[in-house]
Order: sequence, then C-alpha cells, then structure tokens
Amino acid sequence: MRAALKQLWLGLKFVLQALWFLRYSPYAIWYSWQRDRRDRPYQPTTTAAPASVGKGIQATPTDRGAQFEFEQASLELAFLTPDFVRVTWQPGRLPVPYALTDRDWPPVAVDLAEQAEGWRISSSDLTIAVGWDGGIAIGDRTGQIRQEQPPQRLGESWQHTALLRDEECLYGLGERAAAFNLRAPVTPEQPKTYQFWNYDPGNIYQPGTDPMYISIPVYMGLHRGGSYLAFYENTFRGELTLSNSAAEPRATATFEGGALRYYLAVGAPPLLMERYTALTGRSPLPPRWALGYQQSHWGYRTEANLRQEVQTFQAEDLPLSAIHLDIDCQVNHRAFTLDPQRFPDFRQFTAELAAAGVRVIAINNPGIQHNRHSNLFLEGQILNAFCTYASGDLVVAPVWPGRSVFPDFTNPVVRDWWSRQFAYLLQVGVTGFWHDMNEPAAFAAWGDPTLPLSTRHCLEGRGGDHREAHNVYGMLETRAAFESLQRYRPATRPFVVTRSGWAGMQRYAWTWTGDIVSTWEALRQTVATILGLGLSGVAFCGSDIGGFLGNPGGELYLRWFQMATFTVFYRTHSAISVGHRAPWTYGEPYLSLMRRFLRLRDQLMPYLYTLAWEASDRGYPPVRPLFWLDPKDETLWNRADAFCLGDALLVCPVLAQGLRSRPCDLPPGNWYSCWDDTHWTGGQTVELPAPLEQIPLLVRAGSILPLSEGEDLTLHLYPPALGSQGESQYRLYSDAGEGYGDSRLDHWHLSQQGQTLTLTWRSQGDYPFPYGRVNLHLHGPALEQAWVDGQAVAVADQVLPAAASQGKTFEQVCLQIRAA
Ligand code: NOJ
Repeated sequence: MRAALKQLWLGLKFVLQALWFLRYSPYAIWYSWQRDRRDRPYQPTTTAAPASVGKGIQATPTDRGAQFEFEQASLELAFLTPDFVRVTWQPGRLPVPYALTDRDWPPVAVDLAEQAEGWRISSSDLTIAVGWDGGIAIGDRTGQIRQEQPPQRLGESWQHTALLRDEECLYGLGERAAAFNLRAPVTPEQPKTYQFWNYDPGNIYQPGTDPMYISIPVYMGLHRGGSYLAFYENTFRGELTLSNSAAEPRATATFEGGALRYYLAVGAPPLLMERYTALTGRSPLPPRWALGYQQSHWGYRTEANLRQEVQTFQAEDLPLSAIHLDIDCQVNHRAFTLDPQRFPDFRQFTAELAAAGVRVIAINNPGIQHNRHSNLFLEGQILNAFCTYASGDLVVAPVWPGRSVFPDFTNPVVRDWWSRQFAYLLQVGVTGFWHDMNEPAAFAAWGDPTLPLSTRHCLEGRGGDHREAHNVYGMLETRAAFESLQRYRPATRPFVVTRSGWAGMQRYAWTWTGDIVSTWEALRQTVATILGLGLSGVAFCGSDIGGFLGNPGGELYLRWFQMATFTVFYRTHSAISVGHRAPWTYGEPYLSLMRRFLRLRDQLMPYLYTLAWEASDRGYPPVRPLFWLDPKDETLWNRADAFCLGDALLVCPVLAQGLRSRPCDLPPGNWYSCWDDTHWTGGQTVELPAPLEQIPLLVRAGSILPLSEGEDLTLHLYPPALGSQGESQYRLYSDAGEGYGDSRLDHWHLSQQGQTLTLTWRSQGDYPFPYGRVNLHLHGPALEQAWVDGQAVAVADQVLPAAASQGKTFEQVCLQIRAA
C-alpha cells in the first residue's frame, strides 16, 4: 500500500513538473524561431571545395623549431620540450589562449635538414618529417608513432586527418557517453563522429548520446609502437570522425574557423598527462573535506528540509562533508538569490552545519532574468555585460528563470563583476559553488538548445561570435567563481563544480557526469566516461550516485555507491521528478553496507588525498585505466569495466543486476584481495566474489597502502615479490587539509631480500606528522619477527603495532617473513 502511494505521488509529481515546464513553451518557440532567423548566415556551408596547402617552398629555423612556407599556407613547428611539439597551420586566427596556463618553456635545441621528400626536424627525443605536400610523420627513437596527411582548407575551416593503425585505440575528447576506447564502435561500414560542441542533452542522455556537456579536442592514441597525445587548441565548433576503411583507418578533425593549431606529445601515458597538464594547467589541490561524501537532491526546498537531511545523516551515523543547494532554493530560479521565506535563518543554519563539519555548496546558472526589477539585470546592462547580436540587441532566451540574458564571460570586466556577486553568499556561510546549465543551455522548442551562433562575444577584446566562444563559455564562468573564492577567501582553497567546460577547466573546477539515467547500462557508461575525462586532464570528477533520472532501487544504488567510493567526487544527487535518495532510502541491508563504504572512504583518505596532491603536482588522474599500469598489455586497452585508483588499487565494480561474482582482467604482477588477502597472479582473467557487501577490490603487490584508523595510520605492506627480491616505494602527502601552509612528504621504501623485508622512512617538509601511532600490517607472507631501529618488538596477527608514535618516525624496520 505504501509503495503504491509512493508510486502515485511520484507520478503526480512528474505530471506537475511537466505541466509547470510547459510554461516555458511559448518562449521556447519564440526563441527558436528568432535564433534560426538570425543564424541563417552563420550555418556552415558545405559547398567549399577542399584546397590543399600547396607545395613547400622554404623552411627557416627558429629557437625551438622552424617556420615553413607553403604555396597556400604557413606552418610553424615549435618544440615546447624535446617530446612535446606545437604545430600551427595558418591562415586562420590564433586562439585566445584560454586553455593555457602561464608558463615559460625553455628553448629546445633542434636540428633542421632538407631531404629528398621534404624536411626533417629533430629534437633529442622526436623526429618530425614534413613532406613537400604538408604531410607530417612523427617518430621517437623506436620508430614512427603517428602519420598525418596534409591538412586541407574548406572555406574558413581546417580539416586534418591522422592515419590510424588497425589496433590503435583512442581515448579522451572530454566527456563522452561512448565506449572508453572511442574507436570501439567504429566498423568499416560505419564511421563515428564525435562533436566538439558543449551540449545539454536534457533528459535524453544515455549511452551513445553525443555531444555532451564537456567537449575537449584532446585524445590519447595507443598502439603497438607506443602512445601519443594530440590536443587541438581550437575552440570553434568542430568534430572528430573516426573511420575504419580497410585501406586506411583515419581520425579526421574539422573546425569551422581559426588556425589549425595542435600539440603532439609522445611517450608513456603518465608522461603524456604531465605534458598536457603542463600546458593546460593542473587541478589545484582541493580542500581535504571535498574528498568526503557530499549529498544533494533537487528538491530540498526549505531550510527545514536541509536540516532534516543533515540530522538524519547524524542520527544514522553517516559521515557527511557537504550538502548542495539546487535551484529550488532560489527565488524564481534567479542566480545569486536564496528565498528568505524558505531560508529564514540561513546564516545561523550554515554556522550550525559548519560546526558539525558540513559545508554548504550553492548552485548558480548563468542566465539572468530579463527583468527590470532585478538588480543584477540592471547592473549588467549598465556594464554592457550581456551577450548581444551584431545589431546590439540583447540575446534573450528562455531558461530556468524565464526569459533570460547571458553574461559574456569572455569579457574580463564581466568576469570581474560576476566574481563579486559571490561575496554575499560567502558572507551567509556558503563554502563552494556549483555551476549548471553553462554550456550555455537555453530552452529551445527545436534545434540547438544554446545561444545563437551569431551571438557576439568580447573574446578578451578581439571580438568574435558564438561559434568560437561557445565551448569556453562555461569554463570562463567557473574561472570567475574560482577567482572570486581566491579573492574573498584567500586563506582557503576554492571548491567549484561545473557541468560544462573545455581544455584547461581543471584549473578552476571539478565536474560530474550530468543528468544520467538510473540504469545499469548508465552505471557501466559512467566508468568509461570518468576514465575518458581523466585522460582529458579533468582529474576530479564523479557521477550522480544512483543516476539523476529515475528511481534506481536498492541494489543499483548500492552498486553505484560502491563504485563511487573510489571516484573523486563522491556525491548522491537526483532529479526533482524522482524520489529523494540518500543512503537510508532503501533501508537494510543497504544502509549498513553504504555506511561501511563511507567508513572505508574515510580510511582511504590519506591515500586519496595523496592522489589529489599528485594530480595537482603531475596531472595524473586518480582514477586510471588499467593500461596505465602496463600500456603494452593489449588485453587492457579496451577495459572499462574496472579501473585503478592510483597505482595500488584495482577496483572492479559490479555493473549488472544480481551478480555475486564477476570476471576481472588482472594487469600483470601479483594481486591481493583487499578484503581477505587472497593472492592472484596477474596477466589473466579471474572470477572474483562480489557478494552484495563487496565489490572486488585488489591491491597490487609492491604497494604500501596507508589507511587511517581514527588518529592513527596503518601502513599496509604488500611485498613486491613472492619469496625472492624486489623493491617498492610510496610517498604520502600531508598538510592541514585546507589553506596554503606547510606540507610534508613521507617516503617509505620497502625492499625484500629473501626472508627479510626492510622498510625505511624519509620525510621532507615542515608540516608535523599528523598521525598518532604508525602500525604496520603485512599482507601475503607470514610475519615472524620485527625490529624497529634495531630493537626487537612484538608482533601479532601480521601486525606490528605502533612502529612509530607521538610524531616520531623510525629510520628502519626489519621484518622477518616466511612465505605463506
Ligand atoms: C540540471 C543539472 O544537471 C542537475 O544536476 C540539476 O539538478 C538540475 N539542472 C536543476 O538545477
């Protein structure tokens, strides 16, 4: 009976929502008609005949490469490092460098020579052959890595084709609801096109939808000869078509305007990520609390709702780091508002939450209500802050607040103005900001649900239209928020979330995979999407646990929750039209099992926080594909049903209903079950138990896994070798978890010589060691005896308790072991 009533209520809620949404329809029709009328001259023409770049005429060396003249185009090759080169074909305007971080690249010594087929330019690591026709081949010391055809001009567009090897896999392109290996669905008969155009797919987002909220023209290629990364620095609307014609598999990129500028790096995947993020920036170290569990629902309409939610977390003994406010907290969905009637004591409420360790994150959409009663609208008009048509008329499009205007975030004055709007939200106790609908999305009755292509933008003063500015719009909005937090809260680290973005967005914000449906298929997709985002530089991301649209049922929610415990952004969120969802929604056994995973997440914090630091230091995504561990193992290239969290943990989520075991492809090496220490030899597929309480979670032999136990730290040692010799090491990063004070790195080195394991400890940095006791827990071989700095100490049940305590470190621990 209760279930039936609940269904009835959900159905009614859905109908009410649908009716309410209809109020936007007249505007949406009016807007779509207006957009089509104004955009007619801006639609791409398909009539231009392809034009070649002509024949190469001359080459002149520069301090990091060479400048080449062709009959119809010019080419610049500039090495940023010996293994990373920038290629620029013109004509076409150079991009406003929104993607790039400020950095000086020291000059690189190169050698330029003319040959029978063209020129050859080499650094210490790479050799690039430039043909007389403009074709390019790039190789490292082991041979050719990538071959490109001469680019072509199609009117204002550039088209650029790279040849692919049969076995070659491609990954990345930002956020994709596609196979992890983007070539996986391509057949000789059916090419596949991925669009570069940030897009709100609305309620129809499911596996196969393209484009999505974040398109980034960067991909990693992996084949038997090696791996490389290609990044097109071109913000214009474009696409990448992958075709698999038997004769010549290809990846063809097309952009509707601008110069053809791209970057190529060659090397192993970690090096590629280092190079790409040296160029486009790295995710700054987040506050430590952001790695905790966060709760959200579109439907917390009142302060009382929120208070109730937080109290239930406390009553159920579930850790909670942050709670998110969606648009229903606002007055008529207007940006930067909070309804004072429904949130009467908000400032006091946020203080209460802060005291309980819970932060409040508030949403904002870029659309500003077109209304003279809105101060924001009036201020923006005086500042000329809003996007216009070439005629100067405001672009007005419907979105949540009704008829809305859109700040032009490509204007630095507008970003500055926008960034000041956050001040009062900070004053009332909001800690971080969530950006939605910033593709930018508009409600259209037909056609593209965004601003007209003809919309004018400032583009840092040089001017341009929406075809060029669209893809960076959301990223620049979040830049304003990030800079606002830097300005108003200089002592704390910004926390900003965005739905849309472009290359370099990781410098400002985290993301989540948007409005995914609550199905098993969507859960499977989520793993691939997060892996692809990570290889596109977006290290910090997650998904709406349980899916956004739908009521997942206890098992799906639990399995999603278990998977998400090992992703960076750990948040449940759900739509207004579906039931409220939190760890207790489905009762037992789900509640207890989720509590267990929340605790595990807490225990993993030292490891996770170190991974976050590594992302900020090197650009490595914490969530990594299996091939990260061994790019030569071809069996791992297409795997997206499992992932690594750092280099130590292999996570095999359960991705189908009713499964109580699942096959896992183990990368080479030795592996231990995190749950019961069962040993598995890698390089094979094994069937692992997956009862409802667990998902297969394996630790790589050679790992030192730091887990917190209250105030203490336990180092879980998984010796590198079984019975012989081996070495391994681990670096743990610690600091205050907030702000910009001292930090420290603790390096442990584990070496195995026959029956002896030696663990040494070296520290760096001024931050005091933040744990009480340091226990050692040995996995695998039996622990027989131990000596800490030469003193024999007692061991029991594989554990050496308190090898160090009270902030004192040891220099060396020796463990005598016996093969188990
Ligand atoms: C769409 C977002 O993707 C979703 O997370 C949010 O709840 C709704 N907009 C309402 O703001």
